[in-house]
Amino acid sequence: MKIIIASDHGGFQYKQLLVPFIQEKGYEVIDGGVFNEQPSDYPDCAAVVAKAIIDKEVERGILICGSGVGVCVAANKFRGIRSGLCHDTYSAHQCVEHDDVNVLCIGQRVIGIELAREIITTFLAARFTNEERHLRRLNKVLAIEDNNMK
Ligand code: RB5
Repeated sequence: MKIIIASDHGGFQYKQLLVPFIQEKGYEVIDGGVFNEQPSDYPDCAAVVAKAIIDKEVERGILICGSGVGVCVAANKFRGIRSGLCHDTYSAHQCVEHDDVNVLCIGQRVIGIELAREIITTFLAARFTNEERHLRRLNKVLAIEDNNMK
């Protein structure tokens, strides 16, 4: 699986640690920046990840900012992106299995690096179940995206 990871300055240190970690797990990884700790705007890194997924360059994305909230809000504004803020391993697999989340968001200022590694491992190993009830709910989410929710 090919993935992209990006951060703002608030997530830069974790991104630097997590790129080699994810590569060692056998995934192909694009580093979407940022490349230093100069202040940057979280919607910019969210856009980099969203575009890579929308353009089908990668299957999944990981975004890191200080809290994880800003990048999650911004990423979810892009059609076709379903991002989830996960600071526990249960959410990290359930968000894929039930909600078909394609972007994982993490807050560098919130969780430790070892938990971040476990969450990423769990997220990347998870697959959407394709069960009828989850497809039905996903289709309702997609209908909202298309502004035709009844
Ligand atoms: C940057 O200080 C911080 O606001 C940003 O990384 C993020 O936490 C926003 O949600």
